[in-house]
Amino acid sequence: MQLIQIGHNGPKVAPIGIGTWAWGDNLFWSYGADYGEAELKAAYDTSLAAGVSFTDTAEIYGMGRSESLVGKFAADNAGETFIATKFFPYPWRVLRSSLPRAIRGSLQRLGVPAIDMYQVHWPFPPRSLGTWLHAIADAVEAGLVKQIGGSNLGPRQVELAIRVLESRGLRLASNQFSYSLLARKPERNGLLQVCKENQITVIAYSPLAQGLLTGKYGPKNPPRDISRRVVNGSKLGSLAPLLAEMQRIAAAHGDKPLSQVALNWCIAKGALAIPGAKNAKQAEQNAGALSWSLSEEDMASLDALSA
Ligand SMILES: NC(=O)c1ccc[n+]([C@@H]2O[C@H](COP(=O)([O-])OP(=O)(O)OC[C@H]3O[C@@H](n4cnc5c(N)ncnc54)[C@H](OP(=O)(O)O)[C@@H]3O)[C@@H](O)[C@H]2O)c1
Repeated sequence: MQLIQIGHNGPKVAPIGIGTWAWGDNLFWSYGADYGEAELKAAYDTSLAAGVSFTDTAEIYGMGRSESLVGKFAADNAGETFIATKFFPYPWRVLRSSLPRAIRGSLQRLGVPAIDMYQVHWPFPPRSLGTWLHAIADAVEAGLVKQIGGSNLGPRQVELAIRVLESRGLRLASNQFSYSLLARKPERNGLLQVCKENQITVIAYSPLAQGLLTGKYGPKNPPRDISRRVVNGSKLGSLAPLLAEMQRIAAAHGDKPLSQVALNWCIAKGALAIPGAKNAKQAEQNAGALSWSLSEEDMASLDALSA
């Protein structure tokens, strides 16, 4: 399995991780109704057993429940883990001291002495991105954070983050953003390029377009969750030609699931893909993408059809 490095000197991990937005969340997802803790633990254990160790969570996911579940599952597991979590710049967080307080909360929920990677979830006002990056740099110096990541940073914000962290003798290790066969703007607006030029690991979130690229949803069978209908619902009607080509490619590689075509496309673009999985079957299918890869011809036709 080809591994991907976190930043310029971080650990090497499998190019597929575990996304945990839906873990413990019943605002945007249906935690407690369609799936619960037992299914999520099975997803986590299955991922780790398959060599998938990078886990992405956030203090805001399930209002802290995602971090608590990840911390609990990781503690029960002897395998390698790498946990990335995020600080949310709520509008009422105006003091720089909000960030060390948030870190203390995340450390407690995760049950670890230091966070493997800490990310600013969105570069939202009222405080500047630089303010929060300086506060994370303080946490690195205090031994509470090991790597610094961005999340939803555009190309100019990546450049700003590089400058701010350089002034503290630190580097931006990663940036996560929506990147998939249905979200290719990062290829056009310079975001992918600035990350690659600066050895910033590209973390592709929503790599399955929230399930649309698995082929199980369509105009007559949309996802039930409101947020998914709003974000991706309009794309359902025009997906058929892309899904048909993904199906052809999946069959040619030995009847692989469509999700693996979508994930292997991200990996071939040099990204670490973090699909959300809610049960062992999804986790196993997603990890299965690590055992094969797309050809140059496959990539050319997928690129053309998804453009
Ligand atoms: N930084 C940010 O602002 C941000 C934003 C969004 C996401 N993220 C991160 O990225 C992660 C992944 O993104 P995402 O959850 O939005 O979207 P995604 O990974 O594209 O899609 C996840 C959903 O697809 C379905 N699925 C997963 N594996 C499957 C499989 N093998 N076969 C069929 N269906 C499958 C599941 O939903 P159903 O079973 O219900 O269809 C799952 O919840 C999040 O969990 C989070 O960690 C970060």
